[in-house]
Amino acid sequence: MKKPYNIAVIPGDGTGPEVVAEGIKALEAISQQSDIDFQFRTFDIGGERYLEKGVLLPDDEISELKTMDAIFLGAIGHPDVPPGILEREILLKLRFELDLYVNLRPVALFPGVDTPLKDKGPGDVDFVVVRENSEGMYAGGGGFFKKGTPDEIAIQESVNTRKGVERCIRYAYEYCRKREGKKQLTLCGKTNVLIYESDLWYRVFQELHEAYPDIAINYQHVDALCMWMIKDPEQFDVIVTNNLFGDIITDIGAIIQGGLGIAAGGNMNPEGTAMFEPIGGSAPKYAGLGQINPLAAICAAQMMLDYLGEKEAAASILKAIKYVVNEKITSLDAGKMGYSTDEVGDLVVDYLV
Ligand code: IPM
Ligand code: MN
Repeated sequence: MKKPYNIAVIPGDGTGPEVVAEGIKALEAISQQSDIDFQFRTFDIGGERYLEKGVLLPDDEISELKTMDAIFLGAIGHPDVPPGILEREILLKLRFELDLYVNLRPVALFPGVDTPLKDKGPGDVDFVVVRENSEGMYAGGGGFFKKGTPDEIAIQESVNTRKGVERCIRYAYEYCRKREGKKQLTLCGKTNVLIYESDLWYRVFQELHEAYPDIAINYQHVDALCMWMIKDPEQFDVIVTNNLFGDIITDIGAIIQGGLGIAAGGNMNPEGTAMFEPIGGSAPKYAGLGQINPLAAICAAQMMLDYLGEKEAAASILKAIKYVVNEKITSLDAGKMGYSTDEVGDLVVDYLV
């Protein structure tokens, strides 16, 4: 009997369903040639359902999602829903309720892919960001005082628990140890200004290092790190940082690896479930046109296989993706690939079989 995995699929909004379909196509092709099998279960979560029925993410759906081996997400975001609602009540709620405390974002420039960095090639851009994903500025603490008056005060709080910081940094050390890289972990913070938050991060980073003497460590302020990601990305192996800094630096990461057509991430709880997604969002202007690049979603599927422990299957998909970007498509950008969305998915599958 084949090894079965229960996968929740949240196609979501905009181009989400189109790219998710191609990810599933690749997973099904892999299952044909290996001893793994997928039971996909689709969840109708997203902006469209919210507009029709007023439903965001009810408790029973959260409970069901918790029982799945992994979640494959397309995109959440709808132009007719005011900003903040879907993000807080679906995307961040999924991260918080499932305690997906690590957001893993690999930044790798594949051969044949254009980067905006002058004189940089595939060997130069190859690192991973471990972003804390369950607290920090995203915890939503704060409030208004005298809102709408000239004396208005807006306070936005950053929550950093020792437990939260520690489990994230520990994950980063472990990941760095397993990764075939320089074995170097960089902490990204802002100790010169965030004298409480970054101080805690820095201390925990140093304390945990005792258990990882094989890992070289260094620290960079977030502003300087942004600069070095552009100027000298080859110095990085694994970067660990808080939720907001991680959000920002991984957009730089996405663009230097070729853009949102290829950038994927995993929201994970190593002791529970995990959710994998292309990080490009719902791209409403491309929805339904068959022009969006599905490779980021296929990369997300590949990360999911890796997380499930299916290393061989993950490696096969990665090889196929690299082949398609290097030998087949003309650009990673939507509408410029030289192929339609489902043709790109077919190219991956053709290489697999
Ligand atoms: C991301 C996104 C989200 C974030 C938004 C949509 C809430 O930008 O996954 O990086 O800020 O985390
Ligand atoms: Mn982001």
